[in-house]
Amino acid sequence: MLKMKKLLVLLCVSSSCLAAEPSAERQTEIRALLQNTCSGCHGVDLHGAMGPSLKSEALASKADDLLITTITNGRKGTAMASWKSTLEPDEVKWLVGILKSGK
Ligand code: HEC
Repeated sequence: MLKMKKLLVLLCVSSSCLAAEPSAERQTEIRALLQNTCSGCHGVDLHGAMGPSLKSEALASKADDLLITTITNGRKGTAMASWKSTLEPDEVKWLVGILKSGK
């Protein structure tokens, strides 16, 4: 049984079936970024202001890839900037996950 678990873990790592979660410390930093910075355009509570709502209801129908690409590269011609120098790819994925799930 233990062997089986190890094998599964190895498979997961090699095929990256699970995106690596940011450390607890980074999770706190990213949540602070949302509250302090993203909220500047997306509204207090992120329910939309100059930028669209980032609440789970608003994002539910949008593809993860679209949201990931938007946060990573920004959107040309809009106020939405690229966050690639602040957030690692796994962090952007995690962030989209918490926004979509409302957690
Ligand atoms: C300077 C203002 C500004 C800041 C700061 C900002 N955004 Fe945005 N964001 C926008 C605007 C405006 C749009 C809509 C762009 C468009 O018209 O397509 C947008 C779009 C988005 C979208 C796509 C939403 C959708 O419905 O398609 C996501 C996701 C997003 N922002 C996340 C973030 C996150 C996460 C942060 C903080 C790390 C952030 N934004 C910070 C202005 C901002």
